[in-house]
Amino acid sequence: MVKICCIGAGYVGGPTMAVIALKCPDIEVVVVDIAEPRINAWNSDHLPIYEPGLDEVVKECRGRNLFFSTDVEKHVCEADIVFVSVNTPTKTQGLGAGKAADLTYWESAARMIADVSKSDKIVVEKSTVPVKTAEAIERILTHNNKGINFNILSNPEFLAEGTAIKDLFNPDRVLIGGRETPEGLKAIEALKDVYAHWVPVDRILCTNLWSAELSKLAANAFLAQRISSVNAMSALCEATGADVSQVSHAIGTDSRIGPKFLGASVGFGGSCFQKDILNLVYICECNGLPEVANYWKQVVKVNDYQKNRFVNRVVSSMFNTVSTKKIAILGFAFKADTGDTRETPAIDVCKGLLGDKARLSIYDPQVPESQITRDLSMKKYDWDHPAHLQPYSPTCIKEVQVVSDAYQAVKDAHGICILTEWDEFKNLDYQKVYDNMQKPAFIFDGRNVVDVKKLREIGFIVYSIGKPLDSWLKDMPAVA
Ligand code: NAD
Ligand code: UDX
Repeated sequence: MVKICCIGAGYVGGPTMAVIALKCPDIEVVVVDIAEPRINAWNSDHLPIYEPGLDEVVKECRGRNLFFSTDVEKHVCEADIVFVSVNTPTKTQGLGAGKAADLTYWESAARMIADVSKSDKIVVEKSTVPVKTAEAIERILTHNNKGINFNILSNPEFLAEGTAIKDLFNPDRVLIGGRETPEGLKAIEALKDVYAHWVPVDRILCTNLWSAELSKLAANAFLAQRISSVNAMSALCEATGADVSQVSHAIGTDSRIGPKFLGASVGFGGSCFQKDILNLVYICECNGLPEVANYWKQVVKVNDYQKNRFVNRVVSSMFNTVSTKKIAILGFAFKADTGDTRETPAIDVCKGLLGDKARLSIYDPQVPESQITRDLSMKKYDWDHPAHLQPYSPTCIKEVQVVSDAYQAVKDAHGICILTEWDEFKNLDYQKVYDNMQKPAFIFDGRNVVDVKKLREIGFIVYSIGKPLDSWLKDMPAVA
């Protein structure tokens, strides 16, 4: 029986390994982590992450050929294939701070693999890493030269949160990069055999190591670039009376452009896009390519602009001040169907409104109060260090109240900001919402989920990203 061990039981390691175990009953899969609470949760009825379909997959194979453990060294030692799926956050200090990837967690995992291994192993980069990381990892793995062969592969993960199980069951492609040596090609074949249990072989792409590493950063940069492009258009739509949804549809029907990822929003969030683009920018700068670096940097700048623009729109619409006004925040997660808040635009919007002295009442169906409080008191770029790796005492913010129901959040509010596209926000009883709010009642839809016409008929003043402006908003000062 082939034995797989995955270091890192997070959003990627957990679901990916659960699906491998489900699809490959002949393989034993152990997911290990230094975080005991996380492993305990994986072994309980309350998994540490919310992901549609994940519970069923874990229930089916846990205890059969899927195991979660904190005994990292034992399981790494016994494995034939070791996946490394630890977090690779943006560096917060020192050389490259604010841009470069922090490979501390990766390096410590690699050193541990080198120290405890007694047999040959394939080591798979599952984390997103800077191009050429495999070279550094090879050096670490072979530093004490015990006569063990390590073959390193790059197998970046393309799943999106909220659809992780669907994406893993039916991936557009699986990418495997390796050394173009006989041993490297053999290692690629071994990993290909794992995925071939359920992925058609023509969707398993094999490349050299550097192409695989760079393709991951490139894919995220291209996806994020589409969102920043459509968000840039949304500002122009508001200025001209065009409707961004109509523009997206019109350009998306061009088969060369395609319809996906053209949804205007308050900005993209999530643990990957910003981090990976900043990493790409840093790599370009280090390789003497400032023009290329500046090109990609602009994607993040437009995203920041979009979040600021939203806050400015809220404040300017409400007579240029939100001081002491109650603003309901509907949705805090970075997208629907996840409880993940890493780099969620809600953090920037809430901080912006708090900066103007608003009182916030926040509701999200999946994000607990402790997480929201932590996020709002955290410094930039500290978000990708899990709580257990970076103990943090959140300070209570007196202007912030976290509630467990959308109607409670909007009660007596002056305005509502919709920041996550949860289905339940599409189906609220908006007449009831209106009746319970202060007047004039404002809705700022950062996800284009509400029926603007219907809400205006009820009496709301509605702002929806990139849509023709309400006459009320047109008369307000221009938003830069
Ligand atoms: P995560 O923070 O959810 O999980 C990482 C886990 O690694 C944590 O539980 C941490 O305790 C553990 N860990 C860190 N150092 C360790 C060590 N030395 N030994 C054992 N465990 C250790 O992160 P994630 O979201 O799963 O992301 C992991 C990687 O995958 C990142 O590089 C990320 O960029 C990439 N990625 C993430 C996504 C996503 O949607 N989240 C998608 C594709 C790729
Ligand atoms: C992304 C990539 O899609 C995935 O391939 C990679 O492995 C990890 O990073 P993720 O961040 O989980 O996945 O979610 P994604 O669906 O890409 O959304 C990212 C952000 O963009 C979210 O905040 C989402 O709301 C926003 N978004 C997405 C838009 O604003 N408009 C869109 O049209 C699509």
